[in-house]
Amino acid sequence: NFTPNAFVEEVVAEMKAKIGDDKVVLGLSGGVDSTVAAVLLNKAIGENLYCIFVNNGLLRKNEFQNVLNQYKGMGLNVKGVDASARFLDALAGLDDPEAKRKAIGKAFIEVFDDEAHQLTDVKWLGQGTIYPDVIESVSATGGPSATIKSHHNVGGLPDFMKLQVVEPLRMLFKDEVRRVGRSLGIDEELLGRHPFPGPGLAIRILGDITPEKVAILQEVDSVFINGLKEHGLYDKVWQAGAILLPVNSVGVMGDERTYEKVVALRAVESTDGMTADWVHLPYEFLMKISNEIINNVRGVNRVVYDISSKPPATIEWE
Ligand code: XMP
Repeated sequence: NFTPNAFVEEVVAEMKAKIGDDKVVLGLSGGVDSTVAAVLLNKAIGENLYCIFVNNGLLRKNEFQNVLNQYKGMGLNVKGVDASARFLDALAGLDDPEAKRKAIGKAFIEVFDDEAHQLTDVKWLGQGTIYPDVIESVSATGGPSATIKSHHNVGGLPDFMKLQVVEPLRMLFKDEVRRVGRSLGIDEELLGRHPFPGPGLAIRILGDITPEKVAILQEVDSVFINGLKEHGLYDKVWQAGAILLPVNSVGVMGDERTYEKVVALRAVESTDGMTADWVHLPYEFLMKISNEIINNVRGVNRVVYDISSKPPATIEWE
C-alpha cells in the first residue's frame, strides 16, 4: 500500500545520506517525471541541485518560457538554455524519422554536456527514470543508454554520462509519481499534462523541418490544445496533438483559389501508450476547432481527424 508522504520522507533521507554535500546536475523536460525527481532532490540537497532546461525549438507554443517560469516559481535552481538554432541547424535537410531522432538526441547530448561542463565539481547525474523505464531498458535490446551511446560516437562517452546516477523515482509507477508530486504541492496542471515526445514537433512535421513549418504547427497545436481545455476535454484524453502533413491541398478563400498545407488532429485514449484508441471527440467541437484553425493560422486550408487506433497505427505519425 503506497503512501506518498512516507515515500517522500524516506527517499529524501536516503538521498541526503547518499549525496551529502555533492552537486547534482539534472535535465528537466517539462514533464511529470523529471519535475517530481527535481523537487525531491531539491528537498534533499537544496541549491546543490543544478537543473538544466533546454529549448530545442520543437516545443509547444510558449512552452519554454511558461515552464521555465513555473520551475522558478517552485524554487528550483534552474538554467534555461535556448538552443533552438542549434537543433534546427542539426535537422536541416533531414526527412527520415529515425535520422531526425538521432540528430536531436545528439544535439541534446552536446548541449547538455556543454552546460554540465560549466558547473564545477558535479559528482551526480539526477534522472527522472521510473520503474517501467527500468524494465524496458533491461528487456529491450540496447535500451536507452545504448541509444545515447550510438548518438555520441565521436570521442567516447560525453563526460556527464560518467557521473554517478541518482534516480529517486526508479521504484515508482506513473500514477505513484503523480501522487508523490501532489503531496509535494506540485501544480495540478503540470501533473496532469499529456505526454509529449522528446523529439517534440520534429516528429509531427512529416518530412523536413523548417522554422516556418514549426511556427505553423505551434499555432495549430495551440488552438487544438486550448480548445480541448476550454471544452473540458483535455483531462479525458491521454494524449493529443497536431501533425503537419507534407502535402498541399486546394482550397478557396473569397474568390481566390488557395493551395496550402493540410494538418491532422490526433487525440487518443490509452493507459501506457502501448495500445491506444482514437477519441470520439464531439463533432461540434471538431467543427469549431477546424474553423478556428483555418481562419486563424495562415498557410493551412484543410484539417483532417485521425481515426486510427494503435495497433496497427502508432500514436505519432513518424
Ligand atoms: P508511438 O508513436 O510509438 O508512441 O505509438 C507511443 C508514445 O511514445 C511517445 N514517443 C516518443 N517519446 N521519444 C520520446 O521521448 C520518441 O522518439 C518518441 N516516439 C514516440 C509518443 O508521443 C507516445 O506518447
